[in-house]
Amino acid sequence: MSAEAPASPPSILPTANDACWCGSGRKYKRCHKPLEGKVLPGMISPRRVVPPHITPPPYAETGKVTRWKESAVKTPEVIERMRVACSTATEVLRLAGEFVRPGITTDEIDAYVHQLCIDRNSYPSPLNYSGYPKSVCTSVNEVICHGIPDSRVLLDGDIINLDVTCYMGGVHGDTNATFPVGEIDDENRNLIAVTEECIWRGIEAVVPGRPLSDIGKAIETRAKQDKLGVVRAFVGHGIGEQFHTDIQVLHYYDASNSTIMRPGMTFTIEPMISLGSWQHRMWNDDWTAVTADGKRTAQFEHTVLVTDTGVEVLTAGSGAASPNAPWKRSGSTQA
Ligand code: MF3
Ligand code: CO
Ligand code: CO
Repeated sequence: MSAEAPASPPSILPTANDACWCGSGRKYKRCHKPLEGKVLPGMISPRRVVPPHITPPPYAETGKVTRWKESAVKTPEVIERMRVACSTATEVLRLAGEFVRPGITTDEIDAYVHQLCIDRNSYPSPLNYSGYPKSVCTSVNEVICHGIPDSRVLLDGDIINLDVTCYMGGVHGDTNATFPVGEIDDENRNLIAVTEECIWRGIEAVVPGRPLSDIGKAIETRAKQDKLGVVRAFVGHGIGEQFHTDIQVLHYYDASNSTIMRPGMTFTIEPMISLGSWQHRMWNDDWTAVTADGKRTAQFEHTVLVTDTGVEVLTAGSGAASPNAPWKRSGSTQA
């Protein structure tokens, strides 16, 4: 770029084969066109502080995640603590979603979520998890997951996923949802609606004695009805005293995901559904995952408990961003 070159695009953009506005001498389509309208990294604010009366998880100081053996089936006592952490995460996610509007930055959402967690005596689990710098993940438009809150301003028509995890009583509760920013178009509205249907199809497939692969099968089947992509690189996970344990929950059908669901197991279901391809690319920050084709993607996440007869969704119920299956809501005519 030459010294006089404009740093930001002009209000009237070149056509594809014209010279790029930046002065590179390259055709617009070979230079800045692929980036127009895409999410760009902003400035990340200094690390937020957690007051000393909040009990931090083991990685909070060092950023290093050391795994230990943790039973996939939880004791009633652990489950009771998980109910508390999960209901806190549920409330924080709903409040964070209500805070979303055009004109605010994702860093402002981070500050809000950070404080909401602390006010409820919980540690925001993402903070310094493997060095992650913020207290919530904010994934806008083509960002699949793990977007880092920064100085980017939310625009009317964006969609944003907020992924909240709270650590309290020695356990984590993990939940996320995708929210519209201002007015969104029909394609985006449908993407969010179908993604929410996908997670609830997956939840309904949680049955003791059945393999985990039933969950991915149910999700993939629903996504395919709308010709949407199912992201493969990120999966649901066992959760409890550790943020991520070794259970993996694939969101597409794979017979090898054959672990049998047993009462007392706790894991997340968190499908990422895209308007185009399921492949991803990683930003240089090594966290932000975007769709390879730059098309938009949505996600919902719940922490679930396998019961003797089916499933208890620990991050659902009244006061949740996604409280129950859309087809069970009043006014729904779907089965
Ligand atoms: N909450 C995310 C999940 O659903 C994990 C975020 S890890 C972080 O698994 F380090 F990015 F916070
Ligand atoms: Co999460
Ligand atoms: Co998760």
